Amino acid sequence: MALRDLLKGKLTKKQLRHVPSSFDIIGNREKAVAIIEVPKELRQKARAIAAALMKQHKNVKSVLEKASERKGIYRLRKMKIIAGSRNTEVVHNEAGCRFLLDPRKVYFSPREGTERLRMAGQVKEKETVMVFFAGAGTFPVIIGKRARPSKVIGIEINPDACRYFWKDIKLNKLENIQIVLGDVKEKSSRFAGTCDRVMMPLPEKGQNYLGEALTCLKKRGFVHLYAFANEDEIKDFSKSVIGTVKKTRKQSKIISINKVLPYGPGIWKYRIDIRVS
Ligand SMILES: C[S@@+](CC[C@H](N)C(=O)[O-])C[C@H]1O[C@@H](n2cnc3c(N)ncnc32)[C@H](O)[C@@H]1O
Repeated sequence: MALRDLLKGKLTKKQLRHVPSSFDIIGNREKAVAIIEVPKELRQKARAIAAALMKQHKNVKSVLEKASERKGIYRLRKMKIIAGSRNTEVVHNEAGCRFLLDPRKVYFSPREGTERLRMAGQVKEKETVMVFFAGAGTFPVIIGKRARPSKVIGIEINPDACRYFWKDIKLNKLENIQIVLGDVKEKSSRFAGTCDRVMMPLPEKGQNYLGEALTCLKKRGFVHLYAFANEDEIKDFSKSVIGTVKKTRKQSKIISINKVLPYGPGIWKYRIDIRVS
C-alpha cells in the first residue's frame, strides 16, 4: 500500500497530494533507516508520515528527514530524526556485499547500486584499480567481491567513512583492498604509474583531480569521471577533459558518455569513460 493511502483520514485531501511518493531505505530486513524529504506543506505532519512509514516497513527503526542539501568536503547533509531510534547505524546489503554504515556520518546512496555493479563489471582480471573519493568503500568492496582485480585502492578524506570502509572489508572477507585516509591531492602520488583504472565518483568537482588520476595510471589505462551537467553542456565538458589530458602529453579518447541518474531539472549525473595512452 502506498504511503499516501496509509495516511488517508489523518491528512486532508490537499495535504495528501504532497505526501512524497519515494524515499530511500538503507539497511536490511532486521534494521533499516528511511530518509525522506518533508515538503513545507506537511511540516506539521512529519511525525504522522514517519509513523505511517514505519507501519508500512516494519524493518525501519528510524526515520530521518533531509534538513539540508549535501554540502562540505564530506558531501553529507543534515538529517533530523523525526521518529524512532537515535542509533542509525545499519548493515545494507547490495550486490552480494554487506555494508555497515551510518548515513548521517558517511555519504551513501542506495540509488547508485546499479552503477556500482556496472563499474565492477568493467574491471578486468588482475587489474589494479584506484578509487578516488571512496566513501565507506562501496565501489572497492563490490569490485573486490564481484570482479577479479589484483588490487583495489580507495582514497577517502572522511575518517568516519574510512572506519566503515575498514569494517566493510572485514565484513566481506576481502584482502586485496588498501584504504588510504586523506586528500586525493596529497595521497595519490605514491601510486604514480601503478594503476590500470581510476574511478572518480565525485561529480561536483572530480575534474579538478584529473591530473592526479592520470599520474596514477600506467602507460595505458582508463579513467571514469563523474560530472553533473545538462545535455547541452556535457559535450563541451568532455572536450575540456580531452584538452586537460593533452596538456600532460598523453593521448585520450572518450569511449562513452553515460547518463547515470537524473539529478535535478534537466541535469544528469554523467559518467565519462576515457581511454588514456
Ligand atoms: C560523492 S561521495 C562518494 C562516496 C562513495 N564513492 C560512494 O559512491 O558511495 C564523495 C566522497 O569523496 C570524499 N572526498 C571529497 N573530497 C575528497 C578529497 N579531496 N580526497 C579524498 N576524498 C574526498 C567525501 O568525503 C565523500 O565520502
